[in-house]
Parts: sequence; structure tokens; C-alpha cells
Amino acid sequence: MKRYLLWISIAAPSIVIIGFFWLMLNEPGNQQSRTAPVRVSGEASIGGPFTLVDHTGRTVSEADFLGKPMLIYFGYTFCPDVCPFSLQIMAAALDQLPAEMRDQFQPVLITVDPRRDTVEHLAQYVSSPAFPDGLVGLTGTEEQIRAVTSAYRVVFQQADAEEGGDGSDLDYLMDHTSFIYLMNAEGRFEDVFPHGANPETIAARLQEFIENTPRN
Ligand code: NI
Repeated sequence: MKRYLLWISIAAPSIVIIGFFWLMLNEPGNQQSRTAPVRVSGEASIGGPFTLVDHTGRTVSEADFLGKPMLIYFGYTFCPDVCPFSLQIMAAALDQLPAEMRDQFQPVLITVDPRRDTVEHLAQYVSSPAFPDGLVGLTGTEEQIRAVTSAYRVVFQQADAEEGGDGSDLDYLMDHTSFIYLMNAEGRFEDVFPHGANPETIAARLQEFIENTPRN
């Protein structure tokens, strides 16, 4: 594929997604959303059912995570910078919460690179002390990953696909959108944090979310 076609194929959906989030976060009536509970969740069709394999090799679905709000990040373990950075931001945000609040969240990494992100790779990766405690890594078949990334409006593409030749080269980078999603205990979308959001902002929003969520 020509370079410009490749660029368009990744840039166009990215612009749509960024526009989508921008509109969602800036719609009238949502202006106080940075200080008041965000209730765009019902309207935003982000997320949904999935079937994946966790880093222990267990097949899991969205139903296995019900009851705990999730923080979900889409990335891949070979990522040199963006993904480790984002997961460290997630960890730093969670670390700012009181322990009993922090423990309510389930941090999750879903790979966009299932070809290399095997169960074994994920298991090693998610155990890094730099990442959130209890981080769950999820992988799956190409088809399963395509389904879940599509449900979360995640765009990704092998960066050097045009040089991939026969596709046997395992030394490649992935371009991907970088958002942290907050899903509530019922598995519905609550909020999204853009790349570069600082831990303090995220922690404040998580705290607000917990405080405004009725406990059963
Ligand atoms: Ni990355």
C-alpha cells in the first residue's frame, strides 16, 4: 500500500474518533462535566459484549467484570513508549485514591497486537510493579480483538505494514489510539481520559465517580 493511503487509513478514523469524543465531552449540558457527575454514559455507545482470554489463559467475557468499575486501556506489550506511559499514568492516578476506593477499580489492558501478545507475554507484562496493581491483560484471536476494538472505537494499525512483506517479520510497531476508558460496574461507559491526561485529573474524576455511585 502506498504510504499516503496507509496514512489516510489510520488518520481518517482517528479524526472521526477524536471528533466523536470532543463532541461528546463538549455537548451542551455537559459543560459542568469536569466538576459534576458525567452522565453521558447512557447515550454513548462505547463498549459492549466481548469474549477474550486473560493473562492466566482463562476465557472471559464482559460478564466476568460486572460489579467492578473498569479502567480499560488498549495497547500492546511491545510498545516502546505510549503504552507503558499510559499504564503508569493509570497506576499513578489509582495510587492517589484511598486504598478502599482504589480497590474498587479493575484496571485492564486489552491488546491490539494479539499476534505477539500471547497469554505468557501478557502475564509477564501486567506483573510490572510500574503498572496498576491487579492489572488484567486480555488478548484473543484477531477477530475477537477486532470486535472489541471496534466496540470501543479504538483505531490501530501496524505501523510498518507496507514493509511487512510476507508478514513474518515480528519486529514492528503499532499505531493506536491512546485513551483510558472508565466503565461502570454495570459495564457501561462512564468517561474517557485522553492521552496526556494527568494522574491528578483522572484521580479526581474517579473519586467523584465513586462518591456519586450508589453502593449496593
Ligand atoms: Ni502503545
